[in-house]
Amino acid sequence: MRVDIVSIFPEYLAPLDLSLVGKARANGTLRMAVHDLRSWTHDVHRTVDDTPYGGGPGMVMRPEPWGEALDALAPGELPPPRLLVPSPAGVPFTQALAYELAAEPHLVFACGRYEGIDQRVLDHAAARMPVTEVSLGDYVLFGGEVAVLVILEAVTRLLPGVLGNAGSLAEESHAHGLLEAPMYTKPATWRGLEVPEVLRSGDHGRIARWRRDEALARTGLRRPDMLAALDPASLDKRDVAA
Ligand code: ADE
Repeated sequence: MRVDIVSIFPEYLAPLDLSLVGKARANGTLRMAVHDLRSWTHDVHRTVDDTPYGGGPGMVMRPEPWGEALDALAPGELPPPRLLVPSPAGVPFTQALAYELAAEPHLVFACGRYEGIDQRVLDHAAARMPVTEVSLGDYVLFGGEVAVLVILEAVTRLLPGVLGNAGSLAEESHAHGLLEAPMYTKPATWRGLEVPEVLRSGDHGRIARWRRDEALARTGLRRPDMLAALDPASLDKRDVAA
C-alpha cells in the first residue's frame, strides 16, 4: 500500500518509523511519504492560512498550497488515490472503515490545522478522487496529525503479513461487533487474585462459551449501542438466554 501524508508539522508523524508500522515501512508492505505542505507555497512567509470569510475566530487553510499538493500526489493515476481528511466533522472512524482502507492501493491524508481547510479543496478533489472526512470521536484536536497516526496504526495491522498471528484479528474487540472478553496470563494466582477456573480447564467448548458470555456482558454494560446494533441472526440460543 502506498500512503502520502501532507502536514505543516511533518515531525508530528515521526512515530510512524517505530514499532510494527515502522517495520511495515522497512519491509516494503507500506510505502509511505510525509510531505510538508509549505513546500507548495511560493511567498517568503510560506503562508498556508488566512482569516475566514464571513468572520469568526481562528484561521482557515488557504486552498492554493493544498491544490498544488494534491495535483502532485494524485496526478491522474488510475484508479485515483483515496483522499482522507481527518476532521471532527467527519464520519466516525471504525474497524469497518479500517478494513475498507486496508484494501486500498493508495491513500492520501490531508492534515488540516486551525479551523480547517477551505472547503473548495475538498470539493475540487472530489471530482477527481474519492474523498472521506474522518473523525476519531466527538472531541476536537488541534489538527489531523494524531488522527493519521491512529488511522494508520489501525489500518497497518490489517495488512497481509503484518501481524504474526492472524487469529488475533479474528478474536479481538470489534471483530464480531462485540468487545473482547478479559484476558489472563501466568501466574494462575497473583496478589490473591485467581485466573477464572474455566480458562484453566482445557475444555475448549466451555472456554469459548465463557468468553462469549463475558464479551456480551461487557458490551452490554459499556457499549449498549453496539449490542443494540448486533444482527439478531448472529446470536445463538445461549446468548439470548443470557
Ligand atoms: N481534527 C480535529 N479534531 C479531530 C477529530 N476528532 N478527529 C479527527 N480529526 C480531527
